[in-house]
Amino acid sequence: MKLINLIFVFFSFFLVSACGGSDKKKTVSTDQKITLSEKDLEQGAVLFRAKCMNCHMQSGKGIEKFYPPLAGSDYLRDNLEDAIHMVKFGSNKPIKVNGVKYNGLMPASGLTDEELVLVFNFVLNSWGNDYGSVTLDQIKAIKR
Ligand code: HEC
Repeated sequence: MKLINLIFVFFSFFLVSACGGSDKKKTVSTDQKITLSEKDLEQGAVLFRAKCMNCHMQSGKGIEKFYPPLAGSDYLRDNLEDAIHMVKFGSNKPIKVNGVKYNGLMPASGLTDEELVLVFNFVLNSWGNDYGSVTLDQIKAIKR
């Protein structure tokens, strides 16, 4: 084979492999850079509907003064570890979300660490939130 043919073959191979990527995946950049698949987000949405929606609403907006919003929440954005702690173990301390005070009771979710990864990654990337992502190790590290 002539060299020019070889180069051509090489290039077409390169092009095919470069375009064959999965555009269904959404890359969330954090320091660890993990990739969230549509499937993970869908599973997170199912958990959200079953375990969180009653209070935080389908829109993620909550009910002002009673149930804080997750959509656009500055608390979630700035206190992620604490937010995970609250969902994992329950919470009834006074907090302020987007300037509004809340002091309601959120019962412990009862979800496994694996389920918490899914539901948090859904919440962190829904309703316009672009708050990064969490890993199983991060969730596991949060103890009582
Ligand atoms: C029974 C109602 C209820 C349910 C169900 C519930 N929450 Fe909450 N959530 C609350 C209340 C009330 C607070 C404020 C708690 C406080 O003041 O300590 C809160 C606070 C939060 C916060 C921190 C504040 C904020 O708005 O950013 C996050 C994050 C959160 N919830 C996520 C979840 C997730 C995820 C689920 C489902 C696994 C869930 N919640 C289920 C009532 C609920």
